[in-house]
Amino acid sequence: MAITKQTPLALDPARMPRHVAIIMDGNGRWAQKRALPRTAGHKAGAETFRRIATCCKNLGLEYLTVYAFSTENWKRSEDEVSTIMRLFETYLHEAIDTMERDHIRLKILGEQARISPELRRLIAKTDEISAHYDGFQANVCINYGGRDEIVRAAKKFAALCMEGSVTPEELTEGLFSGLLDTAGIPDPELIIRPSGEIRTSNFLLWQSAYAEYYFTDVLWPDFDEEELKRAILSYQGRNRRFGGVK
Ligand code: FPP
Repeated sequence: MAITKQTPLALDPARMPRHVAIIMDGNGRWAQKRALPRTAGHKAGAETFRRIATCCKNLGLEYLTVYAFSTENWKRSEDEVSTIMRLFETYLHEAIDTMERDHIRLKILGEQARISPELRRLIAKTDEISAHYDGFQANVCINYGGRDEIVRAAKKFAALCMEGSVTPEELTEGLFSGLLDTAGIPDPELIIRPSGEIRTSNFLLWQSAYAEYYFTDVLWPDFDEEELKRAILSYQGRNRRFGGVK
């Protein structure tokens, strides 16, 4: 089904995805179009994340995962990287109050050794608060790469083998999934990439095995509730066969 701006956005409540993931792309181009520095695009992108997380919660989704900073994004200028890291710190500071008020969970996915001690402290705090609640969960990927996550899980498995608590023959997909950053989180049914790029860029490589993808030209800071609904409507029109026949 072709979804256009005119398509009525009537979602089927019985066929809502549980988990939507988004590659937040296009902040730089959004800023460039307005003759602003790239960092202004990231600030606008952080606001969009806030709004879309609220929409997801209100639509009854259980999980939203966003790709905020990849293992490859360190290649950007020092100024851009430090602005994004400061945005994460500000966001987590503010999120701590919101989580307590709205009983939402926030989880940071990714490798933490390279991020600042302050950011690590804030992540520990949000983990502690999240443990008290069981409502909507937002996952923010920071210093995250799908391949890196799989390598780290493989190292954890090797360590378990070496200490004798498991043998290589006992490895199953389920056991391996439990060693990933997303342990306990269902795979996303829908992955959205705005900004006109049509690639997966190392995002949720293991978890996306059967995800439906939705690509749109809208730049991330302009992404809104209507765009989200359009993506979910497209998902609801798909015939998901998981390798079988329908
Ligand atoms: C991709 O757009 C965006 C990023 C690498 C950074 C994403 C960061 C945020 C949205 C801000 C903070 C988020 C939270 C959760 C507080 P791009 O810079 O690659 O855009 P371009 O392709 O147009 O250059």
